[in-house]
Amino acid sequence: MQLEITTPDDWHVHFRDGDALQYTVPATAKTFGRAIVMPNLVPPITTVTQAEAYRQRILAHAQGANFGSSTHLFEPLMTLYLTEQMASSEIAAAAASPHVFACKLYPAGATTNSANGVRDPANIYPLLEAMEKLDLPLLVHGEVTEQEVDIFDREAVFIDRHLAPIAKNFPGLRIVFEHITTAAAVDFVKESSNRIGATLTPQHLMHNRNDLLVGGIRPHLYCLPILKAANDQRALQQAAISGNPRFFLGTDSAPHARLTKEAACGCAGCYSAPTAIELYAEIFEQLGALDKLEGFASFFGADFYRLPRNITRLRLQRTSNIVPERAPFVGEDGIVPLHAGKTISWQQS
Ligand code: NCD
Ligand code: ZN
Repeated sequence: MQLEITTPDDWHVHFRDGDALQYTVPATAKTFGRAIVMPNLVPPITTVTQAEAYRQRILAHAQGANFGSSTHLFEPLMTLYLTEQMASSEIAAAAASPHVFACKLYPAGATTNSANGVRDPANIYPLLEAMEKLDLPLLVHGEVTEQEVDIFDREAVFIDRHLAPIAKNFPGLRIVFEHITTAAAVDFVKESSNRIGATLTPQHLMHNRNDLLVGGIRPHLYCLPILKAANDQRALQQAAISGNPRFFLGTDSAPHARLTKEAACGCAGCYSAPTAIELYAEIFEQLGALDKLEGFASFFGADFYRLPRNITRLRLQRTSNIVPERAPFVGEDGIVPLHAGKTISWQQS
């Protein structure tokens, strides 16, 4: 059996920089037509000039990638990292750039490389006002960082304390609630106007916190926002297969070298890029909704970002496919991809 869909896009990916790009960029470019590239480098991408230079470094690794049956050219879509020091003129420059497509709000301390992020979203309201006016989408890592808030509650609390007020104060601002993990987030998006969308990752669709913590701790399933309960997972699955165009694909593929995750204090992030579309196909098939995959993976994100849908096609074969235990990465230890060593039923041809 074969499944053919319009070439998909990844609306949330981390490529890192330098030596990592030779691994991360081809892993995404072989499948996806475009990807929204996260700006949480060290130091972060906070100017259009930096974003343009980073784009060139990425493109240097996109050419010559093995694209299999697909004939598309890969296009990185750049983003800026919002800080409390950023000037509104940078937002204007971003909106004017043909290569910058959004700005990302990281609450300071919420996740990997977020130290330079925003301490209080109210402090960047002038930037959000400029983004609203210029119709530049806001991408949100939706977790509060207050010590007293339980890690499993941080997304739901963020909705009440910050996201709902932002949505209310900036009614024209397009917002992507990134990598949502809770039933509360699904409800928030469903009940919002159609300028609020959300990305869904393969790990949050496939797993819940029991998979992370029962019978031993599995560091390769540790990502942020952390996996939630089974009822949250079910709500995410239903959103993904609902055909509601405000829920779309964003892998949050976030590479960390093997020993930085298999450690006493392991890094957050799942590296899903090498078999991302296959993992989504696996989930959609298990949910009896393969016919909903193309909208979720190839149409809804492009529509939300107001970009043309891809015109090339991607083929997946239904065949037994073992995800490698380890993939090459910077250093000798390699990287452990999401679902490593497990068998899935799809393979890009
Ligand atoms: C991401 C990373 O490693 O950059 N980690 C993660 O767990 N998702 C950052 C992020 O998207 O939160
Ligand atoms: Zn991410």
